[in-house]
Amino acid sequence: MNAQYDAIAEQYRRSKDAPLRRYVEAYTFMQLVGDVHGKRVLDLACGEGFYSRRIKELGAAEVVGVDVSPAMITLAEQQEQAAPLGIDYVCADVQALPELGSFDLIAAAYLLHYAPDERALLRMCVHIVRSLPAGGRFVALNENPDQAVGQYAGYEQYGFNKTVERPRRDGSKITYFMIADASLFEFHAYHFSRMTYERVFAVAGFRSSAWLPLQLDAAGVDAHGRDYWQEYLANPPIIGLECRV
Ligand SMILES: C[S@@+](CC[C@H](N)C(=O)[O-])C[C@H]1O[C@@H](n2cnc3c(N)ncnc32)[C@H](O)[C@@H]1O
Repeated sequence: MNAQYDAIAEQYRRSKDAPLRRYVEAYTFMQLVGDVHGKRVLDLACGEGFYSRRIKELGAAEVVGVDVSPAMITLAEQQEQAAPLGIDYVCADVQALPELGSFDLIAAAYLLHYAPDERALLRMCVHIVRSLPAGGRFVALNENPDQAVGQYAGYEQYGFNKTVERPRRDGSKITYFMIADASLFEFHAYHFSRMTYERVFAVAGFRSSAWLPLQLDAAGVDAHGRDYWQEYLANPPIIGLECRV
């Protein structure tokens, strides 16, 4: 059970306004999500529903958002009540995902790296595979497993910083320090090597997996200049992921 987001739900929601979130994170993730028109979509680690809402607004037939944090689900439901889109939210741990049926697409912006060990990672992946038909897609944003251990620095201008326990190995704790609205909050994730991720994906039943680089929206260059993005994109802390069953 990962309860850390209960304390920071509102701060996390506001951090979505940062340029990085808009022009790199959301841009990359929505490219991965692709055409959702008429599809059944499961949004895992949905938080306060930022991507659930976008996916529903883009024409998905059905969207179910799942998050382990009751505070995040409350924020998501409040927004659903204020501006109903027909999204269902479920408070659950993906490691013990209840039976929700089969989905055309499963999306997860920041889920897998909250598994504290390989067995937990496998449990998440088994539930994801179980909820997809043959040929179904799982897309994600995730910790970049290839980030060099000496390069967990230099993100202050983007509103956060990041450290990792050393020696770094599978299960090493990563800490993010986020600056939003002049307040500081932190949360933790866990490192796994690319080899570990890929072994777990294969054991869970994914037939293929591909790590995909971050993409920058041209509007982000117009708004902030190309140089602004250089340091981040040269040392990406996160990465895209697409797996198929
Ligand atoms: C960084 S937030 C991302 C939220 C949302 N996807 C977004 O991008 O706005 C990560 C979310 O993962 C959720 N989470 C962490 N571990 C989880 C688990 N085992 N099952 C379900 N949700 C989990 C947290 O509660 C948190 O809301």
